[in-house]
This record gives sequence, structure tokens and C-alpha cells, in this order.
Amino acid sequence: RFEKLWFGASLVLIVAFMGTIVYGAIGPGVAMVGDDGGTIDSTVVANGNFERADNFRAPGVYASSDGEGVEVYVVARQYLFNPGTAQPIEVPVGEEVTFHVTSADVTHGFYLAGTNVNTMVIPGQIARFDVTFEETGEYGIVCHEYCGSGHHTMAGQLHVV
Ligand code: CUA
Repeated sequence: RFEKLWFGASLVLIVAFMGTIVYGAIGPGVAMVGDDGGTIDSTVVANGNFERADNFRAPGVYASSDGEGVEVYVVARQYLFNPGTAQPIEVPVGEEVTFHVTSADVTHGFYLAGTNVNTMVIPGQIARFDVTFEETGEYGIVCHEYCGSGHHTMAGQLHVV
């Protein structure tokens, strides 16, 4: 009769764990504060098809449609940032830079070393945040979420010019 009790108890535990995971994934979302106090929110990408989704363009740097600042679209994947790793992301100083970062595979991190720009990059979601860089400079982009055997090599560069 103890078996039944244990079985019940483990069932409760499993459900509790799953609840925690689901809550962690969809509950609070990804909400952090960028350099300028703007919020980072995440938006679900239709079917995880970020290249086709209306709300995610091909990776790269674009002029904003309102004529001010730039929009940066970055795809993280094992084990690179596109753009960022093969070529640096180049953004203008003193203008609003809106980042849209998503993942093509597993959860990654996007951290601009030496700043408070730091977000998780979750497959199927877009992390958006605005940053205005007040000075020119070069920043390392670091993946700070363990994403596989090449995690420690996953890095890139952002140049503010
Ligand atoms: Cu990507 Cu760690």
C-alpha cells in the first residue's frame, strides 16, 4: 500500500515540475530593462519560422522605417550570432538601436560585455530591446546560456561607430 502512496507523490511532483517549467517559459516572459530604460519584451514568432514571419526580417542591420535609428535583426544558433560572429554588427553612435534577437535552435544568451544589455534568446520568440550608445566603441557579444559543446566559443562583436 505504500507503493500507491509513493506513486501518487511522484505524480504530484512531476506535475509540479512541469508546471514550473511551463510557468518559467510563458509566465513572466523575458522582460528586462535596456540601457535607456526601455523594456525587453518577447514576441512569439509564427510557427518558429522566423525567416518567413512578418515580424522577423532576414538577419542584418536596417534603417528604421521612421527614419530614426536602426533596427538590428540577429539570429543566434549553435554556435554563432548572425550577424555578429562572422562579421561585426555595426551600429551608429547616439541613435536608437532596436535589437530583435531570436534563436534558430536552442536557448542562447545575448550579453554585450561591459553593459547591462543582457537577454535570453529563446527559440520561437524574439527578444526586442532599444539601446542608445552614447560613445563609439567595440563590445564583445557573449552567449551566457549553456547551449551545447561549443557554448564557450559562441561570441561576436558589436561596433558602435
Ligand atoms: Cu549559445 Cu551558449
